Amino acid sequence: MTNRPWDTLSKEEIKQLQENFLDWYDEKKRHLPWRMNTDPYRVWISEIMLQQTRVDTVIDYYYRFMEEFPTIHALATADEEKLLKVWEGLGYYSRARNLQAAAKQMVADFAGKMPDTVEEIASLKGIGPYTTGAIASISFGLPEPAIDGNVMRVVSRLFEIEADIAKASSRKVFDEAMRKIIPKAAPGDFNQALMDLGSSVCTPKKPECPVCPLKDFCLAYKDDKMTDFPVKTKKQPPKPVYYVAAAIENSQGEFWLVQRPENGLLAKMWTFPLLKIDETHYQQLKTGFNKEESLQMELLVAEEDKAEQVLPFEEAHVIWQKRHLGEVTHVFSHLKWHLLLFYGRMIGGEAPEKMPGQWVAKDEFSKLVFPKPQQKLVEQLDKNRRDNKVF
Ligand code: ADE
Repeated sequence: MTNRPWDTLSKEEIKQLQENFLDWYDEKKRHLPWRMNTDPYRVWISEIMLQQTRVDTVIDYYYRFMEEFPTIHALATADEEKLLKVWEGLGYYSRARNLQAAAKQMVADFAGKMPDTVEEIASLKGIGPYTTGAIASISFGLPEPAIDGNVMRVVSRLFEIEADIAKASSRKVFDEAMRKIIPKAAPGDFNQALMDLGSSVCTPKKPECPVCPLKDFCLAYKDDKMTDFPVKTKKQPPKPVYYVAAAIENSQGEFWLVQRPENGLLAKMWTFPLLKIDETHYQQLKTGFNKEESLQMELLVAEEDKAEQVLPFEEAHVIWQKRHLGEVTHVFSHLKWHLLLFYGRMIGGEAPEKMPGQWVAKDEFSKLVFPKPQQKLVEQLDKNRRDNKVF
């Protein structure tokens, strides 16, 4: 980038910008639980939670997390299942696993404390440049930028930065601009002011420039080009994948649940058995098993039918309901899951042979860690039950 408007700001202008902004923050800042003090453990946990999740959603999780794991030591020694249970529903579970790995690093290498240098903070598992900057500035008063999507939006408008924010390589431009304007005396407040401005005033579609504390310095505002910034190329849409999900119940009212593999997406979490199929097959099942209301009474007595193999699960001891219970979808950052839910009854007391797992009573579900798509499947099953659509 040849054009660096931040280099043309005089010392007085920078001072004025900082003063305007910090005054605004003093007056308008959101009172959030992790802002009670600047304890690095509290700041760290909040920043990790906030990375992929909205403030409103995070608040309850944050209180619960702090209650269950009030210290670095408590987190380092926590039972992993319990940790994931507290995280259940927040998504991106590797965040929780990385938190524990980093807590263990702190116990092993940093006397059970968050280290206080940029290099050491950045050496911890799951802590990237953004979180490093947030902890360093908020908890240790170091003049480090904390650059996330919100901050890039504000700063790109302030200086009409044309670097594509979808590209990792653009980060250094924002880093350079931020280092020019961040005040040494209050870097944590300045970073948090940017977060608050990005979520309240400098919003993506309709920024409220007349009330913005940075308007006198904002180039995009001066040129009436606010919505031209930030420049961002479109992300690839998440890739669709298709599954049949099987809610298999035995005569004791228990369901067959399987645990996902040790590594990868939703590692070690519990779901109904899922069978990956191609889109064509999925669409055939979706329309072919979508029976009309008038047929449903007939299908409700399917139990009387002889055991029949109607689904692609290779399991002879299950009687399947010949109507699916609906579709559930779930978007991950790179994948979109489509799940078609089927219900089946196990004949006798055996276990489905080809799907290693365990029988779990419905009222014991809360003891296992269910990822969001599984929670949606259970809701879908319950809804069908309430409507008497399960035989
Ligand atoms: N988003 C990311 N970090 C935040 C923080 N500390 N306060 C409010 N919103 C945030």
